[in-house]
Amino acid sequence: MHFALSRPSPGSPSQGCVRRIGAAVGVALAVVALGACGSSPVSTVGELDFANPLRIPPLAEPDRDGNRVTFDLEFQAGTTRFLDGPATDTWGLNGSYLAPTLRARLGDQVTVHVTNSVDETTTLHWHGMHLPSSEDGGPHQMIEPGATWSPSWTINQPAATLWFHPHLHERTAEHVYRGAAGMFILDDPAAAALDLPDTYGVDDIPVIVQDRSFGRDNQFTRREPANTGILGDEILINGTHNPHLDVTTELVRLRVLNASNGRLYNLRFDDHRPYHLIATDSGLLPAPVEMTDLRMAPGERAELVVAMRPGERAVLQSVEPDLGTSSGGRGNGSHDSFDLLQLRAADHLESSATLPNQLVPIDELHPNEVVATRSFELGNDTINGNKMDMERVDLVVENGAVEVWEITNDHGRPHSFHPHLIHFLVLDVDGHPPPPHLSGWKDTIYVPPGETIRVIARFDGYPDPTVPYMFHCHILQHEDDGMMGQFVVIEPGTTPPDRIDIGEDHDDGH
Ligand code: C2O
Ligand code: CU
Ligand code: CU
Repeated sequence: MHFALSRPSPGSPSQGCVRRIGAAVGVALAVVALGACGSSPVSTVGELDFANPLRIPPLAEPDRDGNRVTFDLEFQAGTTRFLDGPATDTWGLNGSYLAPTLRARLGDQVTVHVTNSVDETTTLHWHGMHLPSSEDGGPHQMIEPGATWSPSWTINQPAATLWFHPHLHERTAEHVYRGAAGMFILDDPAAAALDLPDTYGVDDIPVIVQDRSFGRDNQFTRREPANTGILGDEILINGTHNPHLDVTTELVRLRVLNASNGRLYNLRFDDHRPYHLIATDSGLLPAPVEMTDLRMAPGERAELVVAMRPGERAVLQSVEPDLGTSSGGRGNGSHDSFDLLQLRAADHLESSATLPNQLVPIDELHPNEVVATRSFELGNDTINGNKMDMERVDLVVENGAVEVWEITNDHGRPHSFHPHLIHFLVLDVDGHPPPPHLSGWKDTIYVPPGETIRVIARFDGYPDPTVPYMFHCHILQHEDDGMMGQFVVIEPGTTPPDRIDIGEDHDDGH
């Protein structure tokens, strides 16, 4: 059966708000322009036939010489076919959309040559990576068109699913929306010793979740309800629209990355089957946590292991994420539901090892080590009342310090808080001990309106008084609108400069 999305005819009204409605597969589809753009719930549940095989981003093949690993990445502009009909103008790294998956091991000395072959200045940030601020790829490490930037660092953190994406001052949302992003998998002996599904593309599957809207000639458009940033009404998984995955093993591990600009998801299977959460942003959990629903905010990762029976099908969906607010969160997708990915099990499945009861121990950080407690008040487009200033140093942290960061959202909007450099443990959520699924290392956390979350982290390894790390809201429009600040890590007893030197010809758009 053939299935295609219809497209709005040229000149259809309020194109950015157009949504295609299909009653059932094979039935004629109609284009409906919704009157109240951004407030009408979106649902694709039951509308897809999952005709397209899920694209698996290729594993990058680095030059490896012992522990020295060198990757090449090139920003490219191109076109990508997501739907029937015209291809979409996109950006990618080493391809027209997304990127190869990078993979490295504990102890590797990594160098990445990042070449900018698009006609705009951009950056490439290693989200979740513990590395020097000069290699971090934030707004201070701009890559001009035609230039190559070659950050280098040593992997010294546990196995985890990280990612990379542009992080340009005030233009991150646009560059990420075009498609320049990818997954970065870290391995270590502790994870390798566990009997987990770990054959990439077979029983260990990247699942990069992005929402997009398609307008005239299948070009990406933006549907932007007030203050949420871009929210798309179609889902791409690894750049595949309407996807299925052929499953050949009893257990399959899904490395889910919410690489969307502003949308939250609630991961659930259509038959509500339980799955096991084994890892969050920055590493494996102490033990698998059985769940049926998991909320994921922009920037977060979650590794799920799901059991399949021979011949069956199961659809991973996102169903009405609870944003912890009755009114404020609607714009970030709380009333929306999607079919994300259909799993199609073969008639004969290869047996998988039983999931271990224990994964990796967590080295707790003790409150008596804490040298500073800081408060972060998330405003509507500020943090602690400030908008991002490339030259201002918001915080100075001593190398090696253990700090508690208390993040409060007293306003109506959902926010997803992400500090660079560190991995943190959640101490409490609104005064309550964290639920089991928040018991591991994180680098990004959803902060619902009206709540306070306290996290603890050690800041170690890379003092540099002149180059800051960022902390920000990972709803990218909020970040671009100014919900970002900077911290420098210094040697104890030294004083950093008052301002960050950003050079004379820096164009920050003001
Ligand atoms: Cu995913 Cu500051 O970034
Ligand atoms: Cu980051
Ligand atoms: Cu925000």
